[in-house]
Order: sequence, then C-alpha cells, then structure tokens
Amino acid sequence: MKIELNDNKIYFNNGKLKNEIHPFWLRERVDGEEFLDKGTQQRLYDPSTMNGEINIEKAEINNGFLEVNFNDGVNSKFDINKLQSEFLNKDNIIKLIPKKKWDSTLENIKNFEYKDDFFEIKEMHDLLVSFYEFGFVIIENVPAENNYIVKFANSIGSVRRTNFGEHFNVKSKSDPNDLAYTTLHIGPHTDNPYRNPVPCIQILHCIENEVSGGYSTLVDGYTISEKLKKEDPDAYKILTEVKVRFKFTDKNVILEDWSELIHLDDEKNFKQVRFSPRLDYVPILEKDKLDQYYIARKKLSELYNSKKNEVKFKLKPNDLMMMDNHRVLHGRTKFDPKEGKRFLQGCYIDFDSTEGKLRHLKRKFGL
Ligand SMILES: [Fe+2]
Repeated sequence: MKIELNDNKIYFNNGKLKNEIHPFWLRERVDGEEFLDKGTQQRLYDPSTMNGEINIEKAEINNGFLEVNFNDGVNSKFDINKLQSEFLNKDNIIKLIPKKKWDSTLENIKNFEYKDDFFEIKEMHDLLVSFYEFGFVIIENVPAENNYIVKFANSIGSVRRTNFGEHFNVKSKSDPNDLAYTTLHIGPHTDNPYRNPVPCIQILHCIENEVSGGYSTLVDGYTISEKLKKEDPDAYKILTEVKVRFKFTDKNVILEDWSELIHLDDEKNFKQVRFSPRLDYVPILEKDKLDQYYIARKKLSELYNSKKNEVKFKLKPNDLMMMDNHRVLHGRTKFDPKEGKRFLQGCYIDFDSTEGKLRHLKRKFGL
C-alpha cells in the first residue's frame, strides 16, 4: 500500500488498484489542537455541516508524513502509517487472535494469578489474548469479599445486568427459577440464549466449595461446529439455517429470542452457538425438514455431551473463570449439599468491554 501524488491529487495504490483519496476524507482527519480535543481525541468541529467542496492546493510527502494544504486555508500533516492502517480497516484485533480448538485432551493451559493493579499490567493483556484463543480463562486468588466479582467485572468493562441481577449467587435454594440453583447435574449449555443480545462473557467466581462433586465442565462449541461441518455437512447446514425460539419465563418476565443453534457471520464463518435444550422450541416446519433437524440436533447434543469433548475440573475458593458464552458451553456435575457448602457468584460482561481493554493495553505496552 503506497500513497502517491499527481497534480495535487492524492492516490493510494495497493499494487493492483490505484484510487484517488477524496480530499474531504483527508480534511475530516486533520488533527492538531485547533481541530481535535487533546484528551478525548474527539473533533472540535462538525464535518457533517461543512461545505463538501474541499480541494487540495498543495500536497507533499516528507519523512513518512503527507503534508496537505486545503483550499479552506487549513494545512495539515498526516502520519502515512496511520492512514494506511485505515485503508486496511485494520481494527480486527480479535480476528488476529486465532481460535485454538480443544477437547478433553487439553492440558497445560495457563492459569493466571490475581495481583495488585491486575487490570493495568501486561499480564491482563496476555490473559485477554488467552481468553480469545481458548474461549475461557481461569484466574486464581481473586479476592472474594464484598461481592468482589462486580468490582472485577467493572475493572475490565461494565457489568451487563440481567434479570438475575447485577450479579447472581449460585447456591442451591428452595423454589429455584433456574436449574443452576439446584444440586442437580447440569449438562453443557450456554446461558441466556433467550436474550437479545445474548450476554457475551460469563464470569464465575468460586467463594466456597467443600463438596466432593460439583465439578465444572466446559465444551468448545467452536471445535464441535467445525468438526460437524467436516463430518456431517448436512447436519451442520440445517443447524446453521433453522432459527429456533429460546424462551425464559418466570413470574416477573417473559424473554424470548430466535437464533440458529450454530450462527454464522456474513462470510459463513463461525460466530456463535446457543444451546439450552430445556428452553428451545423449533418452529413447525415440513415434516421431512423437522426429521432432518431432530437428527442433526441429536448429533450435536451427542458431541456436546461426549466425555471426549469435555474438560472437567474443580474450581477452588478464589478461582475466577471467564467464559465466552457465545462459544463455550458450561455445565456442572451434581453434588451433595450435606457434604458442605458450595457457593459461586456469577455475572456477565460484553465483548466491547474486553475488546476495549485489549486495545487499551496494546496501546499502553506498544504491542
Ligand atoms: Fe449456566
């Protein structure tokens, strides 16, 4: 990608195509104290109200900078590297982190250790990268006093409140409005599939765990989707096409949202899984199509529930786990409350929190 000049016109040349850069596109990128607020980097003028007839009177390239005099009297210097990264639409910070596939053979995954100033050190950057690689991360020794989970979440971004509250306490209780609040085995699922948008990241913090059961289980929805695509393309196709209704009802609210069990992006790549077989309702389709759908869902369920695809571990007090709720399914084994206490706290944050934090830490450490 190169910037070229010709007769007061500025071009970018990507080796194949040479296009003129619109003078107004550059004019609305001028910086300097007169034009941009130093602290916020926000414009001090409103380009949407400006006359669009901006021309370039003079343009030069010197030492990596493009120097331009516009016909409205404004002169500016542009950092060519910065312009080039805009041409490439380079803000693909998450896409640049390749997802790693995993199953029950996953081992040696790095656990992080909480320490002072944790949210501003390089280790937080490494933690977020690891989170995007594997879809989950565990941090040990996180303080548990005074609902510290909320402070933890708000130090990365902001808590995404749901109908379960700002944070929720996972303890068995009488008259539960969700199976999480029982002592039963819970199969792999994603949380809140009936919400729009679905909360992106679940944080679970172990406060007490004295029981011999109550193991945490995780399955990678990304690995399974890719496996299904390869091994059973018909099943994959129908699960990426049929939108089903997810519904949650309690005495205060009825929530529902529609989605495919495997949701793809515009380029047909993996984007999100939702799986919560106690809450999904497929619409009434032709009988043959429903036959195919039920076979495909069963196949998907078998993969999600296979021990070969699951990692299983026990959270100890002060362990905090962050899970990508659009990618990783979680569950737990049953436990006997007579053996002792089991108390976890949970809350949600959204991807813009972790992505924003990651961009900030990359800037801070020049990564
Ligand atoms: Fe859950």
